[in-house]
Amino acid sequence: LAAGPLAGRHVLVTSGPTHEAIDPVRYIANRSSGRQGHAIAAALAALGARVTLVSGPVAQPDPPGVTVARVESARDMLAACEAALPADAAICAAAVADWRTARAADQKMKKVPGEVPPPLDLALNPDILATLAAPGPRRPRLVVGFAAETEAVVANALAKRAKKGCDWIVANDVSGDVMGGAENAVHLVTAAGVEDWPRMAKEEVARRLAARIAEALA
Ligand code: C5P
Repeated sequence: LAAGPLAGRHVLVTSGPTHEAIDPVRYIANRSSGRQGHAIAAALAALGARVTLVSGPVAQPDPPGVTVARVESARDMLAACEAALPADAAICAAAVADWRTARAADQKMKKVPGEVPPPLDLALNPDILATLAAPGPRRPRLVVGFAAETEAVVANALAKRAKKGCDWIVANDVSGDVMGGAENAVHLVTAAGVEDWPRMAKEEVARRLAARIAEALA
């Protein structure tokens, strides 16, 4: 039986990008290595939690002791998250594509020299974080979102916390070399205010966040 402060708790984590098919060989995606989300899943498991990690396509290995559901699209990611409920906490670290193609082509689209490129008709994807954070009997007690910003990091994070209905926002400044990199400088936005964490390894951000989650669920 798992020991640790999160023993007996179930935590859902999303990580990585989603891929939205244009045709069988092309897709739309956000830039995301999955490194931070996977590190969070590993850190929660290390504290004894039962962890379900719903991950888009990434090169990261499955963290030890974690149940991993691999998905492609945002709609698949939402379905896998809902299938994993109930959970005590949900940590949405995935870089979900905001839009998908309204209709993916069944066959590879042909490039015809001299012809204008085909238009991309887009449809809005479901917001997984906002869906999980919506009030209801299955809402996890603690719902945490991420905000990757290139400017006005804290102001945008405060607004995002209200808009998404989540409890905490982990905001990071991605204007520098954070994407795919080893370190992260984050601000933790909670009901109590904003904490500026020093720049540290993504694994250390994950360990500190997991410890805070354990405190919140205690
Ligand atoms: O919507 P935006 O990208 O500004 O917010 C980022 C946060 O929302 C992240 O926690 C991300 O995982 C989550 N998100 C989501 N589903 C979406 C878009 C964003 O869960 N469709």
